[in-house]
Amino acid sequence: MSKKIIITGGAGFIGSHVVRLFVTKYPEYTIINLDALTYAGNLENLKDIESSPNYIFEKANIVDAEAVKAVFDKYQPDGVIHLAAESHVDRSITSPLDFVYTNVIGTVNLLNAAKELWKEDYTGKRFHHVSTDEVYGALGETGFFTEATKYDPHSPYSASKASSDHFVYAYSDTYGLPVVLTNCSNNYGPNHFPEKLIPLMIHNIIHNKPLPVYGDGKYTRDWLYVIDHARAIDLVFHQGAAGENYNVGGFNEWKNIDLVKLLCKQMDEKLQRPAGTSEQLITFVKDRPGHDLRYAIDAGKIHKELGWAPSVTFEEGLSKTIDWYLDNKEWLDHVTSGAYQAYYEQQYAH
Ligand code: NAD
Ligand code: DAU
Repeated sequence: MSKKIIITGGAGFIGSHVVRLFVTKYPEYTIINLDALTYAGNLENLKDIESSPNYIFEKANIVDAEAVKAVFDKYQPDGVIHLAAESHVDRSITSPLDFVYTNVIGTVNLLNAAKELWKEDYTGKRFHHVSTDEVYGALGETGFFTEATKYDPHSPYSASKASSDHFVYAYSDTYGLPVVLTNCSNNYGPNHFPEKLIPLMIHNIIHNKPLPVYGDGKYTRDWLYVIDHARAIDLVFHQGAAGENYNVGGFNEWKNIDLVKLLCKQMDEKLQRPAGTSEQLITFVKDRPGHDLRYAIDAGKIHKELGWAPSVTFEEGLSKTIDWYLDNKEWLDHVTSGAYQAYYEQQYAH
């Protein structure tokens, strides 16, 4: 069966892994990567597949409804996998409106384009919205987020993602649009932009710079290797029940401080530095406002219904990730030049 699928945000971290998976696994599909190439979008992430005959790149901003409609008119897609977003919580605290434009209005523009194109017949059509566990708010020391957990977002980022989820459900309930959603925990792996915890720490360890841990470092996240998230999206896009959401997580909780210490240990070994060298770089800094204490996902539904489970252990995934950054210093140098420096100085000034 041939399909045309628009993947938004395909030049970003997770999107590039989803595009690669679909382009290589489904040569009979045409994959259209729709991306505005913001600071987080990088076509270098897709160098290995960019000349594949079933891959097309379209530079467009999802905030621009006319531009979105033009891409839909041109390719007449059967499916949409929507990852384009402003994705960094700290940036949402300084510039919330950017998150409203891209994450809320951009999502509604895509929903409208799909509804308009598919209005005569929804058969074989699918709109997959890629969301986050942060919509559920924060957990205490125990418990897990399930698909039934009430939405309770705290940051402007998670509020914008929760809002976009509500619009996706509204288009399903009101217009019958065939949607599926995934709500995933923290991803890590190759091509992760170094404003986020793991790649930022790897970058700073390489350069012997302070390792800024927010607050007391006891905040807890559930980490999943990015390729396992891409595999989950593949399954839900093809086999998920219309109108439903699936939680995706790594069964892998780490307090930030313990994770940073593990990274220091693995990197000292790989860089052949004496044990304990990198840990001395750990610096506790001002906390993130409204910092969610703990996220933990119950991924039982996608496991039971679709047979998904993570394929890599955290130690393996982290080791592969560090190796990728050490082997791709040029990538890291490119993305940390220019605007990155200005962002870093402002974010970590105090
Ligand atoms: P990212 O910031 O690395 O990439 C975002 C991509 O979207 C970039 O290529 C960027 O150019 C593009 N983009 C941004 N604004 C755009 C616009 N207005 N129009 C078109 N393209 C635009 O993000 P990521 O970490 O890969 O996250 C991808 C998706 O997955 C997001 O929706 C995010 O909310 C969700 N998610 C991320 C994580 C995580 O741990 N990173 C976990 C769960 C869910
Ligand atoms: O849970 C899924 C979410 O995970 C995604 O929806 C987001 O797009 C993604 O960015 C991520 O959000 P987090 O806020 O959890 O990720 P981040 O890497 O920014 O931070 C992880 C933890 O590390 C968090 O508790 C804050 C802390 N932290 C982060 C940075 C950047 C630090 O202690 N120091 C830092 O310098």
